Amino acid sequence: MDSLLLRALNGESTERAPVWLMRQAGRYMAEYRALKEQHGFLGLCRNPELACEVTLQPIRAFYPDAAIIFADILLPAEGMGFEIEFNPGPKIGGRIRHADDVSKLKVTDPLQATPYVLDALKLTRSELKSVHPEASLLGFAGTPWTMACYLCDQGPYKHFLGTQVFAAQQPKAFARLLDTITEVTSQYLAAQFESGAEAVQLFDSWGGNLTREDYKRLSLPYIQKIIESLRPYNKPVILYVNGGGHLLSLLSQSGANCLSIDSRTSLPAAEELLDGKIALQGNLDPTHLFRTKAEVIEETRAMLSSLKNHKGYVANLGHGILQATPPENVKAFIDTVKEGW
Ligand code: CP3
Repeated sequence: MDSLLLRALNGESTERAPVWLMRQAGRYMAEYRALKEQHGFLGLCRNPELACEVTLQPIRAFYPDAAIIFADILLPAEGMGFEIEFNPGPKIGGRIRHADDVSKLKVTDPLQATPYVLDALKLTRSELKSVHPEASLLGFAGTPWTMACYLCDQGPYKHFLGTQVFAAQQPKAFARLLDTITEVTSQYLAAQFESGAEAVQLFDSWGGNLTREDYKRLSLPYIQKIIESLRPYNKPVILYVNGGGHLLSLLSQSGANCLSIDSRTSLPAAEELLDGKIALQGNLDPTHLFRTKAEVIEETRAMLSSLKNHKGYVANLGHGILQATPPENVKAFIDTVKEGW
């Protein structure tokens, strides 16, 4: 039988909701900080043994239903010809300003560009068996729109208006950029499936900046193309669009098996709108993990009981966990979901 997570992602009813946290490996864990101090963020990403170890840290500590491979959405940009750094926010060497810059982009085989991510997946898939045999392994990537935001804007990476202006002024070059990232991302996620990922999540972290009309042109078609290219693998795809409450009816046409919704979007309203056609994931506000443990428990229960149906649902946060989150509240969140509906 499929794991709890895979069953929920496929829209099935589950005896309890599966649960994991976006960005569950990271700085809120002392074990992570110790390793990062020694190796640096990219050092962890580029070493499959260390990436596997960091992926497994939250699994050992909290026993969630999924492990998400430790990597970053910006790693594939290296194979396109960019230098990347993190301190801890991303810094990208060279950015796209002109049509010529788009013509210079490379599509490198993921086996050459990011072999360490694929090796980390293979290793983690086998190690997970002894740490938490029922947990599923997730891969991930950014959407073309969100990747383009980092490649076109100069930073500070906050609003990405420069990317929207570039798209408005040079629509043809921007479409070529999105096509190139779409090709890179399709190959990258296919390679992740081949290396042991059981499901993947696409992060459209900046998709919510777009109007519905712009989303239809600048993000959705490229997501659809990626998901279509992954059909032969017959494995679930989760789509997370930060600030995408106004886009839900469009997102339901993405081809994704599951929509991960942010905290501003109402979970029961999304459930009603989507009417069981697509699984849902989310959406506790990450800042609420800073409340008291009793409040975390109460809010997690309220989230679960706000749902009408006990099928096609994955408990998660509405965005990545924050840096100083108290680990005991992460445990309270996960344990409360595990107590059942
Ligand atoms: O979920 C996991 O545990 C897997 C790891 C993961 C990371 N980045 C590790 C990371 C995942 C899934 C990501 C995705 C990612 N990266 C996204 C999409 C998710 C989202 O939050 O919307 C985005 C936009 C990025 C780009 C990125 N990488 C940013 C904006 C930052 C700085 C964030 C910060 O909190 O400072 C990073 C760095 C990064 N990626 C860190 C981690 C653990 C922090 C680096 C450190 O430890 O110093």
